[in-house]
Amino acid sequence: MLEQKLIGVVTSINSAGLSVLLDGNITSLNRDLNGKTYFIGQLSTYVLIPMGNLVIVGMCSELKKEDVTINGSPTQRYLMLVTLVGTVKGGKYERGVSNYPTVDTPVYIAEDADLAVAFSVYQRYGFSVGNLSLFETQRAYLDANKFFGKHIAVLGSSGSGKSCTVASILQKVAPYPDTNIIILDIHNEYAKAFEGKCNHIAIADFELPYWLMNFEELRETFIDENDENAASQITVFKDLIVGSKKGKNPEMSSIITVDTPVYFDLAEVRARMQYLDTEKITAGLSIPKEGPFYGKFTRFLVRLDGKLNDPRYGFVFRPKTYIKSSTMIEFLSKILGADGSAQVTILDLSGVPFDVVNTIVSLLARMIFDFNFWNSNRRDFPILLVFEEAHNYLPSTGVGAGSGAARRTVERIAKEGRKYGVSCMVVSQRPVEVSETILSQCNNFVILRLTNPLDQNYVRKLVPDSFVGLVDVLPALRQGEALIVGDAISMPLRVQIDYPNPEPDSADIKFYEKWKKSEARTKINEVVDRWWKQEKV
Ligand SMILES: Nc1ncnc2c1ncn2[C@@H]1O[C@H](COP(=O)(O)OP(=O)(O)OP(=O)(O)O)[C@@H](O)[C@H]1O
Ligand SMILES: [Mg+2]
Repeated sequence: MLEQKLIGVVTSINSAGLSVLLDGNITSLNRDLNGKTYFIGQLSTYVLIPMGNLVIVGMCSELKKEDVTINGSPTQRYLMLVTLVGTVKGGKYERGVSNYPTVDTPVYIAEDADLAVAFSVYQRYGFSVGNLSLFETQRAYLDANKFFGKHIAVLGSSGSGKSCTVASILQKVAPYPDTNIIILDIHNEYAKAFEGKCNHIAIADFELPYWLMNFEELRETFIDENDENAASQITVFKDLIVGSKKGKNPEMSSIITVDTPVYFDLAEVRARMQYLDTEKITAGLSIPKEGPFYGKFTRFLVRLDGKLNDPRYGFVFRPKTYIKSSTMIEFLSKILGADGSAQVTILDLSGVPFDVVNTIVSLLARMIFDFNFWNSNRRDFPILLVFEEAHNYLPSTGVGAGSGAARRTVERIAKEGRKYGVSCMVVSQRPVEVSETILSQCNNFVILRLTNPLDQNYVRKLVPDSFVGLVDVLPALRQGEALIVGDAISMPLRVQIDYPNPEPDSADIKFYEKWKKSEARTKINEVVDRWWKQEKV
């Protein structure tokens, strides 16, 4: 290897990586090689450590000045910490390192040409998400099967470019004939990015009939676990649902359980609960006696009526189209396209009342998971589920009322989805607040600028041990620049993600530009009117 590329020697080695003592003659931390300036010790730059017929590739994760004693005299030298990422053998690059260098092994700068072999490992898939930040002409190639086939986390502070990254990545696969992507879009940002080429469903104008909910979702919606009568409410509610399901679907009555997604009449169940709540037993008694559930369902009924009579929940509790079990086929065909033909479906949750977002997410995600669970053709029908703003409904500790169903559903998908061809992309600005079970099942992390130290530390725990040093680069990333770590790439990569075209409806609002112009068209009466009618724009 060229002497001009030599920068130092290995001084110690442990499971996290190597320490490299830089040569004493290195005073300025850059070097010109073949017409390009290479920065020595810059975070996430690469080095080479030749060992016999192998070349080990490492990545700089820290640079510091240390007092060292050379030939008996104390002196200050640069010490570089290096994470080992892969090995080049016989012109071929492999992830990981099996032969470790020893102390005193020389360390060299990696030139673009040295790394071409590593960067092109996955070129054959033809799937690339952007340019490498440190090698502007190099594309970042990923193994697309591994990337989409295992779960993905897209993390970064607000405004770091997550929505643009998700749009950009998905736009690359959206045109394929059999792509199946379903985006749970909390702020209705994505329709613009897939304009005219997606199956856009505004959930609040659609119908998500209550009878598709499983009992856990129904219970979470209607029963207050802190009510002293919650246990009786649960038992009776469950029995009455099973009874109504059997009554409405007599041909299936022998196979029906409380969770079978068939039609039942909520009004009928309600009427029965009300009857029990006010029941007085007179038969054979001179003074009527209160029934066993007398007064025990009053609060339940108030809660239920509150939901049933609220027009905002009409799309769930007062379905007009989906009022027979057989309409479940139409329902699924809307979401997946006729026989699964939709490539990108955007489930726009922007108009959904906040307090039912959880239940709705749980219902939608579960329906899709269960669909592939029962689909004998699932291996040919893999589905990617995208959860935007996941911290809102997939919380890390969901003990509060109404917050558990979505988390439990998605945790199950995170654990079992791979077997059934359902994969998740979890997008969040607050990784600390997202279920650890879900994030720890992710195999690939696309991490954009992350400024909060708590979140950085959390990410440090999530990524494989040897890459923790790289987390230090996160606060310094540009908009749309990501550190990609995971098994779909040849080594951790710093990538400037391609700008999506078209972009999602998430652009920064230009406060200063807007303030300078006098074209404000805000009419307060119109805003108030929409507020009353709950018409979100
Ligand atoms: N790849 C990119 N290259 C250049 N600029 C980008 C890129 N991606 C995003 N940006 C800029 O960053 C802004 C914010 O992006 P985006 O809405 O995707 O952020 P976000 O992380 O989703 O934010 P939030 O957490 O608030 O939803 C965009 O308006 C765009 O100008
Ligand atoms: Mg966003």
